[in-house]
Amino acid sequence: MKIQFLPEANAQIVAFLIEEDGELPATAKDLNENCGGLLTEALTTGRFKGSAGQQVSVVLPKSVSSSRAVLVGLGKIKDDDANSQSHATESAAGHLVKAYSCSGFESMAIHVDTPELAVSAASGAKLAAYEYIEWFTKKKPEEQQSLAETSIILDDHPEAEKAWAVASAAIEGTYLSRDLVNAPPNVLFPASFAERIKSLESLGVEVEILDEQEMSELGMASLLGVGQGSVKESQLGIMKWNGTDSDSDPVMLVGKGVCFDTGGISLKPGEKMEEMRGDMGGAAAVTGTIKALALRKAKVNAVGIVGLVENMPDGNAIRPGDILVSASGQTIEVQNTDAEGRLVLADALWYAQEYFKPRVMIDLATLTGAILISLGHSYAGMFCNDDSLADELFQSGMATDEKVWRLPLGEEYDKLIKSQFADMKNIGGRPAGSITAAQFLQRFVREGVRWAHLDIAGVAWVDGDKSPTDPSWGSGFGPRLLDRWIANHYED
Ligand code: BES
Ligand code: MN
Ligand code: ZN
Repeated sequence: MKIQFLPEANAQIVAFLIEEDGELPATAKDLNENCGGLLTEALTTGRFKGSAGQQVSVVLPKSVSSSRAVLVGLGKIKDDDANSQSHATESAAGHLVKAYSCSGFESMAIHVDTPELAVSAASGAKLAAYEYIEWFTKKKPEEQQSLAETSIILDDHPEAEKAWAVASAAIEGTYLSRDLVNAPPNVLFPASFAERIKSLESLGVEVEILDEQEMSELGMASLLGVGQGSVKESQLGIMKWNGTDSDSDPVMLVGKGVCFDTGGISLKPGEKMEEMRGDMGGAAAVTGTIKALALRKAKVNAVGIVGLVENMPDGNAIRPGDILVSASGQTIEVQNTDAEGRLVLADALWYAQEYFKPRVMIDLATLTGAILISLGHSYAGMFCNDDSLADELFQSGMATDEKVWRLPLGEEYDKLIKSQFADMKNIGGRPAGSITAAQFLQRFVREGVRWAHLDIAGVAWVDGDKSPTDPSWGSGFGPRLLDRWIANHYED
C-alpha cells in the first residue's frame, strides 16, 4: 500500500479522527456542509462517542466526490502522556486500514493537523497493511487487499513528507523482521537467512558470513554444539553499517537466530512446536534494525551479529551432560539441550567483543518461556548492567510502543547456574527462569561493556487477538524500538 502526503485528495474514503466526546474537526466542516450535515448526524446519533477504534461510516450523496466518510475514535488523549496522541493516531489509522483494506475501495484519505501526527497516521496505516500471504494459492477475491493508496491530508504536507522519509525506515525494518519471523523453517534456515542478510549489501551494509569451518577455527563450540544435530549448516551473520566518517566504536546488536527449535534431545512436546519457527526473532530484530539504519542513512556506526542455527535431535546432537568449551574459554555443562539460545549467544557475544569494541551492546532473544509467564505479550523483559541504558531503552519502548520492562540481575541468581562439573550449567531450575538465563549471558559480557539483554519470547509473535497495527503472527518487534533508541542517544 502506497502512502502519500497531500493538501487534499480525491479519495473514495475520507476519514476524520475524533477524540472521545470530541467535536467534528474543522477539516470536516466543508464536507459536512456539502452533504447536508450527515457527519454531525453520524456523530450525534447512536452510541458513537469516539472511543479508541470506534467507527461510523457515512454513505455520501452523489454530489460529493468521495463515496464514504468515516469517523474514527481516538479515545481519550492523556495530557500527561507525551506519547498518547501519537499512539492514538497511529492506532486509529491502523483501525481504518484494517476495516477497509479488503473493502473493495482502493483509496483512502485521513485528515490530520500536524506533520508529527501525519507520521503517526502513516505509520499506523503502513503497519496495519502488512500481510504475509506468500503461501496461499487460493485467496478469494474478497480476501484480497483492495486498498492501494492512503493519503494523509494536511497543510504542511512537505514537512510530513520529509519526516516520513526518516520514519518509514523503521517500518520497513519491521516489515523485514515480520517476513523473517513468519517464514516457515523449511524455507528460512541458517544459510537462507544468511542470504537474506546478504541482500542488505545493496543498501550499503557490509555483510560477512562465517560458516561452520570458520567458526570452528575460532573455537565457537558452544554455538556449533547447538547446530551439530542439524543437517543445516550453522552460520554467523555480521552486518556492519558505517554511517559516520569517524571510526567511532559501534553500537552492537546481537540476535538469537534459532531458525527452528525442537528442543534437541531434550525434545519439546509436540503441541505448538510449530511456533518455534519464530525462535529466530532476535536475529530478525537485529536484521530489521540494520536495514532501518541503512535506509535512513543513520549517522552511527552499528554492527549486527546473528547466530544462526537449527536445534534438532539427531545421532550427532549434543546430549544433556555434554560439556562445551565456549570461545571465551568458559566451559558449560549442558543439562538441557532446549536451553540452546544462551549457548548460541555465548559465542555470538564473544565474537561481538573480540572483534569489535562495543560502545554499547544489546542482545535480543526469544530466550525463555518464563518471560511469557512474567510479562505476557505486552512487554519484553529487559536485563541491564547500567541504569542509564535501562532508562534509555525503557523510554524508547514507551515512545514506539515496543515496550520493555526491567527485571533484576544479581549474585543470588547467578549462583543458580553453578555446575559441579564445569564453569556453569545452562539451566538454573524453574524459579526465575528468565533471570538465570540472563545471568548466563552476563557471564559472557566483558568488564566495562554497557549491556542489555531483551528477552522477546513473549512479544516476537502473538497468536489470536491482535491490535490492527500488528496484523500478522510475527510482530516484527525490535526495529522501531532500537532505531528510536539509536536516533535519540547514539547519533552524531
Ligand atoms: N525458544 C525457547 C523459549 C521460548 C518458549 C520462546 C516459548 C517462545 C515461546 C527456548 O529455547 C527454550 O526452550 N527455553 C526453555 C529453557 C529451559 C529449558 C530452561 C524454556 O523456556 O522452557
Ligand atoms: Mn529451546
Ligand atoms: Zn529456543
